[in-house]
Amino acid sequence: MDLTAPQPPAELFSLKGRTALVTGASSGLGARFALLLAEAGADVVATARRADRLAELGRLHPAITPLPGDIDSPDDRRRIVTEATGEATGWDRVDIVVNNAGMSGPLRAEEEEPDDVLRLLSVNLVAAYALTRDLVMAADSPSGMSVVNVASILGLVSGAPVGGAGYASSKAGLIGLTRELAGQWGRRGVRVNALAPGWFPSEMTAGLFADERSAGWVDRNTMVGRPGADHELDTALLFLVSPASSYCTGQVLAVDGGWTAR
Ligand SMILES: NC(=O)c1ccc[n+]([C@@H]2O[C@H](COP(=O)([O-])OP(=O)(O)OC[C@H]3O[C@@H](n4cnc5c(N)ncnc54)[C@H](OP(=O)(O)O)[C@@H]3O)[C@@H](O)[C@H]2O)c1
Repeated sequence: MDLTAPQPPAELFSLKGRTALVTGASSGLGARFALLLAEAGADVVATARRADRLAELGRLHPAITPLPGDIDSPDDRRRIVTEATGEATGWDRVDIVVNNAGMSGPLRAEEEEPDDVLRLLSVNLVAAYALTRDLVMAADSPSGMSVVNVASILGLVSGAPVGGAGYASSKAGLIGLTRELAGQWGRRGVRVNALAPGWFPSEMTAGLFADERSAGWVDRNTMVGRPGADHELDTALLFLVSPASSYCTGQVLAVDGGWTAR
């Protein structure tokens, strides 16, 4: 073990000179992730369907480039990859990919049609796979790329009565995809990890937190007795995308106040 040259801790988390793409950056966790990576020194492409929200985000930080698109559309995905690695940015590759875009669906199997499940798998899982694959294949040399898939505790444990078959399957699938791609690409220097958030306030969870009973259910079943605060995924994401986690791949990092440790 070489003890002569440990890296200064602050530099371990620095993203200076790195390029990043964050999906689902028009709201919630993704908007925060895009700003966080920009603050850490990265140049960031922020994508989602709502162009006005992305433009707003772009005004908050000069290192953020809005690039609107529907992640579920193959044409839009192709355009996103071409523009993120072409003249619009001047980048030759995307170093950091944060697959954060996601949607939820009906909660009860009695109301969730197979087509609902297909749509959830398409947006939450297949789109992340397709985009990541295209970005890695577009890189002349992918070594050093880091991919983070935003999964969920609902990909690890049942969230009944909250969750839904399509949502839980898509998040469990993302975790399987994380391990598989980490295995396929590890020797090429591409790391792939998953972040599994517990309950955090956002547009997706607004209904849950607006209801006293379900908000209480979250408090009661979380070891620390409360939902996550906005900033409480920051260091986990920075760890996974940065050189701080250079020997970490194929892993799932749950940031959930102890939810999955019960
Ligand atoms: N909040 C939580 O407690 C929690 C817990 C575990 C996991 N997560 C995961 O964290 C991620 C972010 O969720 P959030 O809580 O921040 O919810 P949110 O505010 O609803 O964000 C979802 C994001 O995904 C984007 N999106 C959805 N469908 C898209 C599509 N077809 N094409 C492009 N972008 C699309 C949305 O943008 P547009 O509508 O503008 O396209 C939005 O920016 C999701 O993957 C979610 O499953 C959240």
